Order: sequence, then structure tokens, then C-alpha cells
Amino acid sequence: MEDWIDYYDSTHTIYVSKRHRDVHFELIARDIIGYISSPDAVVLDYACGEALSAPRVADACSKLILAEPAPGVRGRLIARFAPNTKIRVRSLDELRGMDEASVDLAVMNSVAQYMTPDELDTAFAVIRRALKPTGRLVLGDILDPKVGMGGDVLALLRFGASHGFLKDALIGLVRTALSDYRQLRAKVGLQRYSEAEMLAKLDAAGFSAVRAPQNIGHNASRMTFVARHAF
Ligand SMILES: C[S@@+](CC[C@H](N)C(=O)[O-])C[C@H]1O[C@@H](n2cnc3c(N)ncnc32)[C@H](O)[C@@H]1O
Repeated sequence: MEDWIDYYDSTHTIYVSKRHRDVHFELIARDIIGYISSPDAVVLDYACGEALSAPRVADACSKLILAEPAPGVRGRLIARFAPNTKIRVRSLDELRGMDEASVDLAVMNSVAQYMTPDELDTAFAVIRRALKPTGRLVLGDILDPKVGMGGDVLALLRFGASHGFLKDALIGLVRTALSDYRQLRAKVGLQRYSEAEMLAKLDAAGFSAVRAPQNIGHNASRMTFVARHAF
């Protein structure tokens, strides 16, 4: 396994159980819907993963573009959502050819940590081009250098305790500690940005951004940023 895209294309154990996976995607969908300002909105979910609750998001907007780099995941998305005429599945490369200024809301949740800083700049440029002048980019689940792996462990245990999968969360943590995830986390690592660093990176990419009061998803120790075109 070379990188995080390979990891997410494999039969990984990042979700400790089916219940964990289901409540994760329900929560992400609820939080994304909170950022949709009109039922006419065009929404782009950049590196969406399995996006199991995508139909809920699609119900709240006019078109949902699911973009995913891992080919196996993308194949499942195409099969799963073929009947839903509001959902389109794309590779990340295909986004470069999208119509300019066509997207109202772009979401990139829990992705930046797996990218090199240069890859993230490239993604920002692709998204900025695709966003309408009034559009917003919501960048979620950014890891702060001040918060270590302990914060992730605690957040998962709390999430498990409040949603009925605490035992699976404990077993999952042990399994993860022995898995490819641990090896990749040691070998490739995860990118971390302080609030000031991410605001500066977004500014350099032509966005004007603020930190949101709450992170998307279950992990309150991570950060979400809301960015617009800076003129
Ligand atoms: C933790 S999942 C997040 C999925 C979804 N956005 C969510 O919030 O549940 C990480 C996603 O990042 C993608 N990814 C991993 N490395 C990447 C890279 N270098 N560039 C772009 N996407 C990457 C994976 O394919 C996967 O879909």
C-alpha cells in the first residue's frame, strides 16, 4: 500500500462497524445540508468516500456531484446511486473540465490531512474555478498540530458511547493499531495545519475564509473553515 488513496480503496477498517459507518455518513450529510442555502444549489462533495447518505443531501439541493479519487470506491458510488438522477459521480481529474462558476457549495471533509500541501493547493485551484462568485467552500476535519492521536481516540470513544457502538469502537482501536492505517500514518503521515496556517493557505489560494464555530462530523477537536472567493 503506497498512499491514502490506496488505503481508502482497500477493505479498510476505518469504520469500526456498520453502525459506525452509517451514523458517520448520516452526521456528515446532516452537517453538509446545514450549509446548503437553497434547494436550487449545485453541491460538490470533493473526495466524498462511500457517501452512504448522499441521497439525503441530493434531496436538499438540485444537483450533487460526488467526486472521488479511489477507483473502487467510485465504482461502488456509480452502482449505488445510478437510479438517483440528481447525483453525478466524477473522478477528481474530471473536475478540471467542469463548467467554470457552476457550483454553489463545495465540501471537502476529512481529506486535506491525506494530501501533500501542494496537492491541497491544486485542489483549491480546481474548486475555486468551479465555484460561483457567491459560492462557498467548506473545508472540514482539519487536524490541528496541537491535538495528537489521543484526541481522535477520545472522540471515537465518545461517538461510540453516544451511538451504541462503544464495544466495537474499543475493538476497532486495537485492530487499527495493528493495521495498514497505523503503518501509513507512520510512513506517509497526516498533514496538520493550525488555524492561522490554514487561513493563510486559503488566502494564498484566493479565498477569504473564517473558521466555523463547529467542526463537521463527530470530532470536535478538529476544525472546519468556510471560504469564499476573495475579490
Ligand atoms: C476519511 S475519507 C473522507 C470521506 C468523506 N469526505 C467523509 O467525510 O466521510 C478520505 C477521502 O480522501 C480521499 N483521499 C485520500 N488521499 C487523497 C489525496 N491524496 N488526494 C485526494 N483525495 C484523497 C480518499 O479516497 C477518501 O475518499
